[in-house]
Amino acid sequence: MTATSSAGHTRRDFLYIATGAVGAVGAAAVAVPLISQMNPDASTIAAGAPIEVDLSPVAEGQVIKVFWRGKPIFVNHRTKKQIEEAVNVNLASLPDPQPDSARVKEGHANFQVLIGICTHLGCIPIAHSGPYDGYFCPCHGSVYDTSGRIRSGPAPTNLALPPYQFVSDTKIRIG
Ligand code: FES
Repeated sequence: MTATSSAGHTRRDFLYIATGAVGAVGAAAVAVPLISQMNPDASTIAAGAPIEVDLSPVAEGQVIKVFWRGKPIFVNHRTKKQIEEAVNVNLASLPDPQPDSARVKEGHANFQVLIGICTHLGCIPIAHSGPYDGYFCPCHGSVYDTSGRIRSGPAPTNLALPPYQFVSDTKIRIG
């Protein structure tokens, strides 16, 4: 996959999710106007309020990007094959050994959520890229797997995980 097609993919997915989020807020405002007035405004969200992300439109094999506290958050709806490969890796071969189970929520290994900021010098990696079909940082060549673990390159540690929880099978709250 080329950088161009991957970037296009990410942009398209982001636009799709952003549209969905606006729709959800609009619907809530109509249904429960008093409660919607208590929702945080844009500046509060930018300052760090939690955000909810509906994962139901995210197809298997798709990675979406949302923003929380100004940081890109990648949500990867992993395939069975990707999960198996991430689980079965020899931990001793990893620069920053961490089992896949420590990087997903129990019972939700299909959704892997991480902060898309390279741990080397802070570039934003490209999703669906590199030899592990995970993330590739074009700045200096760091390669991450679908668990966000560093596999090669100068990045010293795995991609960080944001604080989040599942509020339903298809919805997470970040923050
Ligand atoms: S910033 Fe990602 S490899 Fe250097």
